[in-house]
Amino acid sequence: MSEVIWGLGTSHVPSIGAAMDRGLVADPLWAPLFEGYAPAREWLAGRNPDVAILIYNDHANGVDLDITPTFGIGTADHYRVADEGFGRRRVPDVVGAPEMAFHLVQNLIDEGFDLTVFSELDVDHGFTVPLSVWTPDPGEAWPCPVIPVMVNVIRYPQPSAARCYALGQALGRAIASYDGVGTVGVLGTGGMSHQLAGARAGFVNPEFDHMFLDAVARDPEKLTALHRDDYIRLAGSEGIELIMWLVMRGALNPTVRTVHTAYHVPASNTAAGLALFDNRAG
Ligand code: DHB
Ligand code: FE
Repeated sequence: MSEVIWGLGTSHVPSIGAAMDRGLVADPLWAPLFEGYAPAREWLAGRNPDVAILIYNDHANGVDLDITPTFGIGTADHYRVADEGFGRRRVPDVVGAPEMAFHLVQNLIDEGFDLTVFSELDVDHGFTVPLSVWTPDPGEAWPCPVIPVMVNVIRYPQPSAARCYALGQALGRAIASYDGVGTVGVLGTGGMSHQLAGARAGFVNPEFDHMFLDAVARDPEKLTALHRDDYIRLAGSEGIELIMWLVMRGALNPTVRTVHTAYHVPASNTAAGLALFDNRAG
């Protein structure tokens, strides 16, 4: 019996990682963003789980664009940091948790979620930046083994928000039925509102983002009712990454305590958000 102890939703904007790697966190441009992270990092530092599950999307760095798994899971014992064209980030590679990952994928397939299984995978900024948001100074290794759960948000048609939430609920049941570890942290990543290209490049929607931050805590069903076209219209073509927060939320209890939220516009072209939930409060 394993227990999810916390859930963390966070943006994965690559320049957040670059700012950390280049020692710019105290720069006036970046300081407000990183100050917003501080209370969450402090709370998390005393609560390292045995395993983390990180819901993320690849940006055609680990998987070529000619293959688009709608949902995937990593069963490897090790994931390399991807080279996205300017060298690998100098952060630790990721240690996996193959035995637990096999348990999860068996249970998810039995529940009707036929995930693509990755026995080899390089992880890009969608993965490493959220790890850095959680753990700014990992030293030689991240705080625990991490299982990647991949969601297609970059090619139409993305999975529905309702399907993502249902996947999270099934994931929560699969975690609970695993005896091999004790505590689990779940990260939902991407967002918040942003659009990187096209006529609406630079689009952000703080009103939508604040609605999302409130509803993901207290009324996630409200967010599952939105169609993918609603996400793209209201949050931008890349803002649909937010559906990955719903996988994380589905894995938590119906009632959670919000430990901390942060919101900053812009990080690069994106509305950067963070929400940390204590899953032991219900
Ligand atoms: C940016 C945001 C993203 O989500 C991403 O994957 C790449 C770039 C940005 O705002 O620069
Ligand atoms: Fe992205």
